[in-house]
This record gives sequence, C-alpha cells and structure tokens, in this order.
Amino acid sequence: MDVTKVAIIGLGTVGAGVARLLLEQQDRVASRAGRRLELVQAVVRDPRKPRESWLPAALVGTDIERVTNDPAIRVVAHLVGGVEPARTILLRLLEAGKDVVTANKAVLAEHGEDLFARARQLGRSIAFDAAVAGGIPIVTNLVQCLAANQITSLRAILNGTSNFVISEMEEHGADYHATLQQAQALGYAEADPTMDIDGTDSAQKLAILARLAYGVNVPWRTITRSGIDRLHTVDIRCARELGYRIKLMAVAQLADGGTPREGLELHVSPTLVRAGTQLADTRGAFNAIHLVGDAVGEIFFHGQGAGQMPTASAVVADMMDMAVGRAQLNLRSVIPWGTPTPRVVVRDCAALRGRYYLRLMVDDHPGVLAEIAGILGCNNISIASVLQHELDGMPTDGCQVPLVIMTHKTVEGAVQRAVEEIDGLSAVGARTIRMRVLDD
Ligand code: NAP
Ligand code: HSE
Repeated sequence: MDVTKVAIIGLGTVGAGVARLLLEQQDRVASRAGRRLELVQAVVRDPRKPRESWLPAALVGTDIERVTNDPAIRVVAHLVGGVEPARTILLRLLEAGKDVVTANKAVLAEHGEDLFARARQLGRSIAFDAAVAGGIPIVTNLVQCLAANQITSLRAILNGTSNFVISEMEEHGADYHATLQQAQALGYAEADPTMDIDGTDSAQKLAILARLAYGVNVPWRTITRSGIDRLHTVDIRCARELGYRIKLMAVAQLADGGTPREGLELHVSPTLVRAGTQLADTRGAFNAIHLVGDAVGEIFFHGQGAGQMPTASAVVADMMDMAVGRAQLNLRSVIPWGTPTPRVVVRDCAALRGRYYLRLMVDDHPGVLAEIAGILGCNNISIASVLQHELDGMPTDGCQVPLVIMTHKTVEGAVQRAVEEIDGLSAVGARTIRMRVLDD
C-alpha cells in the first residue's frame, strides 16, 4: 500500500489527539484513505514538558526544520494556537512544499486572505474543518454538500467553552469562575480563555463561516460582539422562568431576504433562545449550527465543538483528504478564499428588529417602574412582560432588586437609546443587561 508521510506541529490538547488517532487507528485510516498515513515527526516548543507515555520519544523534537527539510513529508497538521508564531509557521510549511491542515481559526480569521493566496501561488493547500465547531464537519458540508444552495440564514453556537460554562451554571448552579477553570482543565478553552468568553473566538469562526456561506470577506474585528463575561445567574434563572435558555449565538443572515452584497446581518451575543428548540438544547461543550439554504431548507448540525478527540477527528479527516488529493481539489474549486471578493455591506446592528430582554437593578421604590416604562414608551418600545421577585420572600422595599422587562418587537437602536437613558436614572444601579431574544 502507498504511504504518505505526515508530521504534526504542536502536541497540546489537539495535537496529542491527532497523534493518538494516527498511531492507534493506522489500519482504519489506511483502509479508508486507500493509503497509509505514517506519522514521522512531531514538533513542540518545550522539550522539557512531559508527553504521553504511548508517544514514541523519537518522534518528538523542537526543530521545525526537521519537517520543512524532509521532502518525504507531504502533509503537516498545524496545531499551534494564536496568531504569531502560528502564521509564520504555517507560511514556512507552505513554502517548504507541504500541504497544511490547521485547527487555528484565529490565524485564518486574521490572515486567511494572505495565507490562502500564498497557498494558491505555491500550488499548496490548506484544510481547516477543525477550525470551526471542532468535530462537526461544517466546512466540508458548506463547501461541498450544500454547494448548490444560497445560504440565507446561519445561526450557531460556536464556542464550546462558553456553552459549557452557561450549561453548568444553569443545570448545577455552578460558579462562573470555577466552571471556566474546569473548561480549561478539560482542554476546551483557548490558551487565553478571554477569547472564548468575550465573543472573540465565536466572531473569528463566524467570519470564516460567512466567507464560506456567502463568499464575503468580513474582517472579524468588525463583527459586533459581546460575550458571556457579564452574565449573571439571575439572568439564567429569569430566562428559564420566561421559557428560554441563554446561548452565545453567532448569527450571519441575509438582510430582508436580499443578496449578500445588499446586506448581511452579522453579530455574536448572548441571546435568549426559546426552550425546547434544538439550539436551546445544545449543552456542555457541544456546538450547533442551524442553516437555511434556498434549496435544502432548514438543516441542523450538532456535535462536540471543543475537546481533544472530537477535534482530532476533524483534523485527521482533513489529513486523509490531503493524502488522497480531495482537499487540493476543494481549494482549487470550492473554497472562496484568497481570491478577490466584493466587499459586503454589514448591516448596522442599530437597524436590527427583534424582541429584547432587559435586566435592570433598581431601587424597590414607588414610581420607579413607571419612570422606566415612560422612557421605553418615549422610545417607541412596547413592554411584553415584566418580572420582579421579592428577595427570598422577604420585603424588598428600599433594596435594589432585579427587574426584568421583555419587549415586543422593536429596533435595536431604540433599545440602545432607552437603556442609556434608563442607566442615567438615580434609581437604577449597575449597567442594564440587554439581550436579543430568538423566538423562531
Ligand atoms: P495547546 O494545548 O495550547 O497546544 C499548543 C501546542 O503548540 C503545544 O504542544 C505547544 O508546544 C505547541 N507550540 C506552541 N508554540 C510552538 C512553536 N513555536 N513551535 C512548535 N510548537 C509550538 O492548544 P490546543 O488546545 O491543542 O489548540 C491548538 C489549536 O487548535 C488552536 O489554534 C486552537 O484554537 C485550535 N482548536 C482547539 C480545540 C480544543 O478543543 N482545544 C478545538 C478546536 C480547535 P508545548 O507543548 O511544548 O507547549
Ligand atoms: N476554545 C474553543 C472553544 C475550542 O471553546 O470552542 C474550539 O475551537
């Protein structure tokens, strides 16, 4: 049987999983790829770090030139996080004639145009299914299986760490910081977990999906985003009581049924999602992507979006595709990256229409609710429901209490203006929490 020699740069959570699959499932991989994938080198940064006992020590080194200088190595898994030196390493591999499989969305979202353009120039390929939604084969599905469709709506949960934290808080009343540490220990979080919880990681993945689904180049930094870092258990409890779950949603949908060039709604934010829907039922480190295509209609993907083996599953599949030449074909024909694209109009979030959840901390005094309702009314915002509880059954007179207001459909700009005014009231304490509501 033919052999393709492969290497791995980075043996952390994902890299170790990839090595394990390649070494332990050699026969399975060979029978499915029609050729053997032989792991011959693995490069790390720190030679003193203890490695997995099953990993042959002779495979591991710190010199990337052992990979770039070996012409027999054709395919390299690039499993180093962050932007630098990850970008330089990826370029170096392409220039050394390697086809590269990466799980690094940060580097693709930041430098994808240049990297793909350079790969095309050099006649090399980059495959990246693991970079978005971990084990869910969303890239392959978008660019191959759904290629006949115009995607009109994409709503997704793309960060496993955030979803894990929210689920643990909701289901077990877990502490936010302790749960985030647990997500780090389980290998879900980025080296800097701020990227997970502040919406950065989701925005980077959303920019990649928008590229694939709509053929547009949107710099991820321009995507309006907020994360779960201001989320409080009181919001999780109130959302539940109202019949919703809170999810960190990444949304890319065509505005008013138009074309991508006419306008795209693009944002990442904690959102109230109606309980009982597939998105609301996505728990733990799972990710989910709900798509609508003009031919296929609705389609839903669900699976582990972070973690060692789910991500390794996607990386090894891409390595097999590289070894047999399928990934190269994809880059030539269906990956719209590193090629000129029209600039897209990203719709100003202030123009978005929808329902909103507002959670205020207010003095429990006569007239406060009327004052707030007045401001909402002046901004043409109609109240759908109001929720206020006494604290543990005790009188709340004079204390600050959470007051939750659900609005009817309105425009986001009006909500922004109203919240600014409300937050200026002397009876209102901490900054008001504002979240979109997804009812359909
Ligand atoms: P990680 O555990 O931090 O591992 C990173 C690896 O890269 C380590 O082995 C490190 O070496 C190596 N490395 C760093 N700088 C290097 C350099 N200059 N030269 C050679 N090796 C270097 O990260 P990870 O969680 O595996 O994530 C890797 C990538 O996959 C990231 O881009 C991440 O966003 C993405 N991803 C992760 C997951 C997940 O669930 N973890 C899921 C999907 C995608 P040392 O071991 O010597 O420190
Ligand atoms: N840190 C990422 C997450 C890993 O939690 O989703 C997968 O990209």
